[in-house]
Amino acid sequence: MGVTGGIAAYKSLDVLRILQRHGHGVSVVMTHTAERFVGSASFAALSGREVGTALFGDAEQPGYHHLDVNDGMDLMLVAPASANTISQMASGAASSLLTSCYLAFRGPVVVAPAMNTSMWLHPATERNIATLRADGVHLVEPESGLLADGAVGPGRLAEPASIVDAVEAVLAGRAGTRDLAGRTVLISAGGTREPIDAVRYVGNRSSGRMGWALAAAARDRGADVVVVQANVDLPREQGIRYVDAPTAAAMRDACRAEFPACDMLIMCAAVADYRPVDAADGKLDKSKADALTVEMERTTDILAELSALREDQVLVGFAAEHGPEGLERARGKRARKAVDIVVHNDAAVEGAAFEGADNIITIIGPESEQALPRMSKRDCAERILDAARPLVEALASRA
Ligand SMILES: Cc1cc2nc3c(=O)[nH]c(=O)nc-3n(C[C@H](O)[C@H](O)[C@H](O)COP(=O)(O)O)c2cc1C
Repeated sequence: MGVTGGIAAYKSLDVLRILQRHGHGVSVVMTHTAERFVGSASFAALSGREVGTALFGDAEQPGYHHLDVNDGMDLMLVAPASANTISQMASGAASSLLTSCYLAFRGPVVVAPAMNTSMWLHPATERNIATLRADGVHLVEPESGLLADGAVGPGRLAEPASIVDAVEAVLAGRAGTRDLAGRTVLISAGGTREPIDAVRYVGNRSSGRMGWALAAAARDRGADVVVVQANVDLPREQGIRYVDAPTAAAMRDACRAEFPACDMLIMCAAVADYRPVDAADGKLDKSKADALTVEMERTTDILAELSALREDQVLVGFAAEHGPEGLERARGKRARKAVDIVVHNDAAVEGAAFEGADNIITIIGPESEQALPRMSKRDCAERILDAARPLVEALASRA
């Protein structure tokens, strides 16, 4: 485990402890700057191993430190990874023990960046992160929130447990499959808002988290990802193209425009079924009437429309249904709209569907159904892609 110089360096003590709880032995390498933030003695005490800091050993321990450290290691984790170390790793510079170890290491590498939002969003950092991804490094995206410098935005080190989850996924061979390389995946996310007047709308509770998780998972599996998004207030991720489509009509236009170039469409957005026939100009005045009747009209069913237009795309729809008959309705939706897979979730169950970090889904495919236990939206996303990818392959081989 490499530790670099940033405020979040203290959190890597937690990462180390969780890794140990999972049964892993951990050797720590620190940059000199990291030592300004946390003492190497803490890492040495917790790991029970010598901590590497200097590229050159002393007279009593001569040798090729950067090669020795790597001996017997299954995986390299850098957490937190500073902008500086990320830039060195991307360019192949090897001026510290940590970056020399990186260049000399042949196994999988997981990097968990942490830095101020401006540093994270700087084009140079974006370039470096894209390079690391292209080099096969597994990124654990930083989270968005209040940073140590008082700013709010993306850049905060991912939670130690999430970092360890990523390490476990890589070790288990669940990560790193680039089985969607060369494919374009179009994902709709979020919830549309249909205006009643200039300031009011009819909306829904979709947060966009499921669509975001699908987009990140597809990107990590090598796909070109386009997200058509409606009103999602989540940090945008690198390596994903976003198209804004706040209303059902805008979402229909954007999806139609992007659809011909995609290999797989995942319609995850909660698109309004009805919209007000006329949105009032300005703000409706409540002093004018005691009651308000808004006439609504049906919106276009985007999935059904695209299904009729499809050439060789795989189509995945979502069905957030309420109650015990929901699964049957979801099965019906799959057949009626002629889509390949419908992902059912029960909006009546606490913790399924909207807003939360987890979901409980049933994947209804052409051959079989998979009812999955509660799991993170990222894990759900992986399972959905696992189900859809063979269909993309099948279409490609037929073409
Ligand atoms: C108080 C303080 C906090 C810092 N926090 C971060 C940080 O969170 N992320 C980062 O990339 N750099 C941070 N820096 C800047 C790095 O320490 C600096 O770029 C250093 O060269 C990184 O060295 P290293 O990559 O060899 O560890 C911070 C600097 C200071 C003085």
